[in-house]
Amino acid sequence: MHPDIQEILLTEEQIAQKVDELGKRISEDYRGYEILVVGILKGAVVFMADLIRHITVPLAIDFMAVSSYGKASESSGVVKILKDLDQSIEGRHVLLVEDIVDSGLTLKYMLDNLSTRKPASLKICTLLDKPSRRKTDVVPDYNGFAIPDKFVVGYGLDYGEQYRNLREIAVLKPGKYSNG
Ligand code: IMP
Ligand code: MG
Repeated sequence: MHPDIQEILLTEEQIAQKVDELGKRISEDYRGYEILVVGILKGAVVFMADLIRHITVPLAIDFMAVSSYGKASESSGVVKILKDLDQSIEGRHVLLVEDIVDSGLTLKYMLDNLSTRKPASLKICTLLDKPSRRKTDVVPDYNGFAIPDKFVVGYGLDYGEQYRNLREIAVLKPGKYSNG
């Protein structure tokens, strides 16, 4: 185990099984349609790479980068687009892929922004959800795991850009992480 890790919250096997399950549900729900899977950089990259290989309907991918967190672990509520989509989403079925929904402020902003671009449909798939932290009415259409109010890293999620390469989702040891 990585020396900075206190506890493994979700193992590789648990994650893999959930990703398979989500991929199957998405494939059934979008049967007969083509989708545009939009990943939110950078945290969603690992999850999205696995997820799309479990989706069987035709799809294209694109990415957006937004900033709402600096090095701090609390959302500022201020969201800035750092990288926009490469293509128009008008008339397309868009599935937004996020690593974790915490306050929901990031997703709320993205939903408002993307819906002005007239997609045929717009849904959210997140691997993790911290429902106790929500400050908006955002509800993910697909959610992997509801987790307690703990700061987690791994499988794409970072703290100060570290730990994205861990294969499991883990809680950091106290002292390895400061709140704000
Ligand atoms: P929100 O706007 O508060 O919902 O924050 C969402 C973003 O904050 C996610 O895309 C993550 O990048 C980051 N985030 C929230 N909670 C955690 C966590 O526990 N670990 C790592 N990143 C997190
Ligand atoms: Mg992050």
